[in-house]
Amino acid sequence: MPAPAVLFSEEQIQSRVADLGRAIARDYAGRSPVLVTMLKGAVVFLADLFRAIDLPVRVDFMSISSYGSDSEASGGVVRILKDLDQDIGREDVIVVEDIIDTGLTISYLLATLRARQPASLEVCALLDKTVRRILPVEIKYRGFECPDRFVVGYGLDHGERYRNLPLIVAVDDQTALTDDPDLLAPLLAARDAEVEKTGGRTPS
Ligand code: IMP
Ligand code: MG
Repeated sequence: MPAPAVLFSEEQIQSRVADLGRAIARDYAGRSPVLVTMLKGAVVFLADLFRAIDLPVRVDFMSISSYGSDSEASGGVVRILKDLDQDIGREDVIVVEDIIDTGLTISYLLATLRARQPASLEVCALLDKTVRRILPVEIKYRGFECPDRFVVGYGLDHGERYRNLPLIVAVDDQTALTDDPDLLAPLLAARDAEVEKTGGRTPS
């Protein structure tokens, strides 16, 4: 298996998350939005994002699962494993997601949340795989455009591993990783791999 390509370094991610935090703080000045975070992938992003928002934000969690087994696309058939603790009626809600791929999961979620009549409802996603989109999604706060490759790190997993990688790498041979789940373990110790030049871009 060729060395996995680092798409977004720790430094790039931290700088972009700080931008998003500032943008949210500016747009919601004087308010106290609820950050509805999708378990489990988005918790790493949330942890950095909400410390970059200098407003009295609140946090709640939701867990959604597809009926299918794997982590990639949901096929749009989803169910709520854990619902929010609080009522979001009349609240300003920002959904925090790790990655929007086909858009099926977030579309289901947004319809569910909208029915609870929040004052406002927006999406903040770290990664946006636009080329894979099946359902259109309006992403108000977007970290990076993500190429059409399977990625792990910074909350994103392959079979529950690598969420604790502080950077994001592309895994082009998923079969090799399934055969040997610890294949990328050396990366956890060596974080400063070269950032691939053809990696993702920051939207302007
Ligand atoms: P969607 O319904 O296709 O938009 O799926 C979004 C979900 O699929 C994300 O929350 C992730 O859990 C998962 N996913 C999509 N692409 C990737 C990837 O490249 N790596 C890891 N998980 C992914
Ligand atoms: Mg997920």
